[in-house]
Amino acid sequence: MTTVIDSKAADHPAEAGDATWWRQATVYQIYPRSFADANGDGIGDLSGITSRVPYLKRLGVDAVWLSPFYPSALADGGYDVDDYRDVDPKIGTLDDFDEMVAALHAAGIKLIVDIVPNHSSNRHVWFQQALAAGKGSPERDRYIFRDGLGENGELPPADWTAMFGGPAWTQVDDGQWYLHLFAEEQPDFNWQNRDVRDDFLTTLRFWSDRGVDGFRVDVAHGCAKDLPDVLPSQAALDATPTTDGQHPLWDRNEVHDIYREWREVLNEYDPPRIAVAEAWVASAERRARYASPDELGQAFNFDLLEADFDAGQFLEIVSTNLAEAKIAGSSTTWVFSNHDVVRHATRYGLPPLNGRDVKQGADWLLSGGTTPELDIVTGLRRARAASLFMLGLPGSAYLYQGEELGLGEVADIPADQHQDPAFFHNPGVDPGRDGCRVPLPWTRSGDSFGFGSAEAHLPQPSWFARLSVEAQDDDPASTLNLYRRALALRDELQTAESLEWLESESADVLHFRRPNGWEVVTNFGTEPIALPEGEVLISSGDLGDGMLPGETTVWLKN
Ligand code: GLC
Ligand code: CA
Repeated sequence: MTTVIDSKAADHPAEAGDATWWRQATVYQIYPRSFADANGDGIGDLSGITSRVPYLKRLGVDAVWLSPFYPSALADGGYDVDDYRDVDPKIGTLDDFDEMVAALHAAGIKLIVDIVPNHSSNRHVWFQQALAAGKGSPERDRYIFRDGLGENGELPPADWTAMFGGPAWTQVDDGQWYLHLFAEEQPDFNWQNRDVRDDFLTTLRFWSDRGVDGFRVDVAHGCAKDLPDVLPSQAALDATPTTDGQHPLWDRNEVHDIYREWREVLNEYDPPRIAVAEAWVASAERRARYASPDELGQAFNFDLLEADFDAGQFLEIVSTNLAEAKIAGSSTTWVFSNHDVVRHATRYGLPPLNGRDVKQGADWLLSGGTTPELDIVTGLRRARAASLFMLGLPGSAYLYQGEELGLGEVADIPADQHQDPAFFHNPGVDPGRDGCRVPLPWTRSGDSFGFGSAEAHLPQPSWFARLSVEAQDDDPASTLNLYRRALALRDELQTAESLEWLESESADVLHFRRPNGWEVVTNFGTEPIALPEGEVLISSGDLGDGMLPGETTVWLKN
């Protein structure tokens, strides 16, 4: 099974200032309220990030992706933005932002910021103006308002369910209803309105002028909508395919007009600003459209994040996505964890999904972390093997804060301390996403394990002590040092964006070679296999004598 996947991409690793730096970058996602708290109020802040730049530099990441830091009432963890061109006073100021950018750049680290175009918050000045200006006004046209059904418009315009549960239409004082595909505090913009389009171009320039290197585009597949006068029912929406660009809400073909306009702005800069789409779409082919060079340039690929720790699934995913990225002229992205999903060190310690289309770990979280039984040791062992596999692949690797510590999901957050709307809107069904957003442990002890001088805004479990940066710093076998060594080696070894699959001794083993002789072998099974030939560079676990144990990855040089 030798397949060579070739690419037109540059043969050399990205240099600073190079317009292709992103193609195979390692990007570290920071959820700012849970990273480091400099002023001791229990909430992570921008100065906290600045103070940890030496940590990021030593870890060896190429870029940081910063989740929303904009003024927000936190109805959805900051994805409800009050003002796209400011910093939330609870976590800093624009001056703090500039200092953070300067510190990151001085350390050779780029910065990508989250931008949320599908919806603002209900506190955004435009939404407030829309409410005040009333029915039929140009102010209201920036959002999606409709009259209700029923004799007096007392029923919602459609029976749609929002992503976090509950109705997707909410009534305002004068009787009209507005659409929110997410929380009620997140009214959807009307992207057919020119003001909306222009304002986002202004925002792109605002941050690009401040030195930001790129953007992560939230819910990129949702902006274009086609809403007829008589709206379809939820059942009809569910039955409409999302494969041909004609669904009324998701992944419509016209959405690409928006991003072609964005690209023109991004290309005003030198080097051009990059963008990566969060696009939950039906296929790798649909995803590739967002990633084309005349649009955003790159798109997240969540296939590995949705897969089991399984050689067959990984092989299929990697092959498909490398081929699609090549067609798009982009590079692939790989992700195991982010602020929306159960951390992969935990997922891999739970029974496999075997193709079931459910949120991995949801049942376990709802049970408070008791059922099914979690195998922590196996979870971490597999997570380390999977991460080392991913870091050897061509393309960009997106890491989520704390995965370099092998951090697991926190399952025992008391109900009254949850923050995520998903937890409250869908009680007993959706466990919410707070368990992966618990502030990082920096030290073994202290009020918040070194996160700050006050108690953290989400409760940290006692087992964070053993996974803290301090506990792992000097231990050569720690997950932190595995990531540090792997990222340093990845930098040295980086080569053309292609791989060749090599014959392996069992279907549970994946073995690939990059063009310069850098080889990656992962044993997904539990039985040891003979270690293939080559100089051992790094392994995710101890190697037996001449053997590659189960659930272990090794990098070789030949
Ligand atoms: C994206 C974000 C998620 C947020 C949602 C609505 O999926 O990753 O955290 O809740 O968009 O903005
Ligand atoms: Ca703070």
